[in-house]
Amino acid sequence: MNFLYALTLLCSIHAVFCDDDPSTVSPRQDLTFTDLAAYDGYTAEKHYVTTEDGYILGLYRMPVQKSCKASKGVIMFMHGLYLSGDDCLIPGPGKAHCYVYADNCYDVWVPNNRGNFYSRNHTTLNPDKDSAFWDFSVDEMSIFDLPAVIDYVLLETNETQLTYVAHSQGVSMLLILCSKKPEYNAKIKVGFGLSPTAWLDHSRFIVIKFQSFIAPGLSLVDSFLNKEVLKRNGLVENSGEFLCGRTDLSYPFCSVLVFSVLGYNRFQITEDVLPVVAGHTPSGTSLRNFVRWGQIQRNGFSEYDYGIFKNLFVYRRLTPPLYDLSGVSMPWVFLGSENDYVANVTDIQTLVSKLENAKLCVLSDKTFGHLDFVYGKDIPNYITPVVLSYLESGTYTCP
Ligand SMILES: *[C@@H]1O[C@H](CO)[C@@H](O)[C@H](O)[C@H]1NC(C)=O
Ligand SMILES: *[C@@H]1O[C@H](CO)[C@@H](O)[C@H](O)[C@H]1NC(C)=O
Ligand SMILES: *[C@@H]1O[C@H](CO)[C@@H](O)[C@H](O)[C@H]1NC(C)=O
Repeated sequence: MNFLYALTLLCSIHAVFCDDDPSTVSPRQDLTFTDLAAYDGYTAEKHYVTTEDGYILGLYRMPVQKSCKASKGVIMFMHGLYLSGDDCLIPGPGKAHCYVYADNCYDVWVPNNRGNFYSRNHTTLNPDKDSAFWDFSVDEMSIFDLPAVIDYVLLETNETQLTYVAHSQGVSMLLILCSKKPEYNAKIKVGFGLSPTAWLDHSRFIVIKFQSFIAPGLSLVDSFLNKEVLKRNGLVENSGEFLCGRTDLSYPFCSVLVFSVLGYNRFQITEDVLPVVAGHTPSGTSLRNFVRWGQIQRNGFSEYDYGIFKNLFVYRRLTPPLYDLSGVSMPWVFLGSENDYVANVTDIQTLVSKLENAKLCVLSDKTFGHLDFVYGKDIPNYITPVVLSYLESGTYTCP
């Protein structure tokens, strides 16, 4: 069933890109964050943040627009698994998260996790030569990358709190951070969790299933996991033969695309935006992180699974413990959809039940998929009004 579904998607996406229709090419498809913002008429600047363990992260800022009298505060947008900060620009002005927040006079900051397209750098390790560079998963992103960028932004802006808007893995990261370092609760005004991933018991995401299946075996050959996967290729240099040729190579590219867009929804990801998504997705992570999400699907929202022997040593039990969410006191508003194959509403409800201060809006639109929360044309109708209304008045209505 899943396999058939994936194949259908594969063919439809392949068809969209390979039908020689010039409208399937976009001048925005290969632009990096600052160039894309400039193309769309906005100013963005790049900052670098070095983590405690030496990773140099690319952090973007869209300063408060000149037409604004004052800053209404800081909004940080955090991307999902093997994605990048570009996600908050991709659908374009009037639609993409970061443009909407900038238009409303917020100071917008956009981090990138270690190992992705903008964060392949380290004070001592070379990502192209040293496998140790790739020895990380969401756990390190949560306890090293996220606090580093939060502290950097609060210092730069002289603010005491920021608003966190995150997609998928970006939501998990703040949950883990507040669980492990509870002092970060106070630094977040409110978190908006789009399609949050924590419990994945009902996830139909085909790759997650696969990861869950291979995860136990891979834990045994640990160093094998220190590799780069899903590196960004872009469209320009690979268009033509690579993407549309009849070589086997086009297959992995297309399938990568497919699983990134599982739940792909032609009505939300419009034809002008699809090549921009393909040009910026995926953006790379480590194989260890990829497999880590299989562990989470198998074990629940738990700590790293080292395999039974090392688990006994590290945790004094055979299986890793669940993340302790009792210390997560900051307010959360989650947004989920019944068409989300990755973050199933039932699993989001499990997450909500473990948190002190969390609410869930299930979209009344029953077609919204996992990626529509960042690439969909209805973001300004369904998603950003919740964020803006909450920040303006403390209240909101679920869309
Ligand atoms: C990596 O960071 C170092 C130190 O900040 C810098 O000199 C170098 O240009 C960076 N390399 C890349 C590829 O960004
Ligand atoms: C930072 O904020 C503090 C307290 O709100 C204020 O006293 C100080 O002047 C601010 N500094 C800058 C550089 O804006
Ligand atoms: C969510 O989980 C329920 C219960 O397993 C299932 O019936 C439903 O199809 C799932 N939804 C999606 C979009 O995968």
